[in-house]
Amino acid sequence: MASPVSMTSFKIIFYIFLVMISISFPLKKCDAASEESLTQHTTSFHSVPVRQLSPSLNCKSTTSAGPTGKSTLKIVNRNGACYRGESSKLTLSQILSHDKSRVASIQSRLQASSTSNTNGLILEDRQISLPNKPGNDLGTGNYVVTVGLGTPKKDYTLILDTGSDLTWTQCQPCKKFCYPQNDPIFNPFQSSTYYNISCSSPQCYLLRHATGHAASCSGTTCVYDIQYGDESFSAGFLAKETVTLGTDVLPGFLFGCAQNNQGLYGNTDGLLGLGRSQISIVSQTAKNYGRVFSYCLPTWSGSNGYLSFGKTGYSVKTVKFTPFSIFKPSENFYSVDLVGISVGGKRLPVLPTVFLTAGTIIDSGTVVTRLPQAAYSVFRDTFKQQMKGYKLAPALSLLDTCYDFSGVDSVNVPKISFIFRGNVTVDLGANGILVPVSETQTCLAFAENNGPADLAIFGNIQQQTLQVVFDDAGRRLGFGPGGCS
Ligand SMILES: *[C@@H]1O[C@H](CO)[C@@H](O)[C@H](O)[C@H]1NC(C)=O
Ligand SMILES: *[C@@H]1O[C@H](CO)[C@@H](O)[C@H](O)[C@H]1NC(C)=O
Repeated sequence: MASPVSMTSFKIIFYIFLVMISISFPLKKCDAASEESLTQHTTSFHSVPVRQLSPSLNCKSTTSAGPTGKSTLKIVNRNGACYRGESSKLTLSQILSHDKSRVASIQSRLQASSTSNTNGLILEDRQISLPNKPGNDLGTGNYVVTVGLGTPKKDYTLILDTGSDLTWTQCQPCKKFCYPQNDPIFNPFQSSTYYNISCSSPQCYLLRHATGHAASCSGTTCVYDIQYGDESFSAGFLAKETVTLGTDVLPGFLFGCAQNNQGLYGNTDGLLGLGRSQISIVSQTAKNYGRVFSYCLPTWSGSNGYLSFGKTGYSVKTVKFTPFSIFKPSENFYSVDLVGISVGGKRLPVLPTVFLTAGTIIDSGTVVTRLPQAAYSVFRDTFKQQMKGYKLAPALSLLDTCYDFSGVDSVNVPKISFIFRGNVTVDLGANGILVPVSETQTCLAFAENNGPADLAIFGNIQQQTLQVVFDDAGRRLGFGPGGCS
């Protein structure tokens, strides 16, 4: 314990030190600083009307649509104002709690050297426990798209997931358990193009790699079983069906006719697997679209987001590409090399190795961007410094930097850019920086990782309004501004 005397002498020394610092950097520094803050306000800050940060948003029906290709689908946020499905809308605290589970699952999946579970669970044997507590939800991102399935085609609203591979929809007769969903549940007996896949077929073997679980059999039908986390799962028959993307009709698509599903899927009809393994929709449609898709995730009040398959879905002029990671490659996720971050036009003093050691993935289903601890602390402190004119508010869950903007008309928010390998600088949209919680609480929408081995995740709030191009054939990821609003 420090005695009062030594505390005092410490303070005195400290003040002398401060005085010496201010003396050794005379007036010139003040000039530079004020000059800088002038230019910063024009070029390095977003001026955001506080109205726009209000948690009670209206759906903006925009006329400017994204690309209008044949294979372009509309994306909406299932917690946003433009989602017309029956509401299971979540509060921000609930969204953050789900986000923690998703990230914990991703981190453990990536860190486990061999995660495959050889239990080969058989559908008939699975113990069904009805949802009485929230599940862990790797599969429950916030953005949904509508795809057509069957002949005649019916529409299903599926969660967009770049972090998993098998596409599934809840399916009659729901042998074990189907949660309530908005659309009538898919009925294989009403489609002329549905076929069960046999458990001896080579396609059934693809499941092991794609789901981490060996397939099993029900009669002669191949049974898949995916666990997204401790509690969230889907199991059912592997089947072949005609899928309709926009106006493109594609026969023979492998998907899950889901018979037992539990987790935080909301009232959506299932999941669209946009991952990299052979069973993902990206791989299965390779001959049609060349393993390229792009999307724009709209803001929570935006209505013109899109998912587009093929090379024509994005603007070649404005999209810049960074190669997939060579330092931390991933089979399952889209990994890239983040090397730096700028805040308010200034590159943070964080060495690229801080990011490269952890590695970075982009994920459509993680909400809040996660950064390595050593980078996050510098990032947050710089942001706070540049926002020091605003009143702080209490933290919320994993968001530790919050502001009270009540009584303020418009806020100057520092621009934030991510810098990827190849000097690809991606300026985040103004909506990708702060997230509104209540009238008196708006938080910086970034969080730090729990451990040094955890990788960075480019989350979906920060991806909002960007054109993001997933070019698995060219092993590169592209970013462009102004894809949607
Ligand atoms: C698919 O296989 C399962 C399990 O054998 C069976 O219950 C179901 O009726 C089959 N579906 C069709 C459409 O044949
Ligand atoms: C990286 O890009 C920025 C602008 O985007 C530019 O100012 C800078 O000079 C570039 N650096 C290198 C090393 O090319």
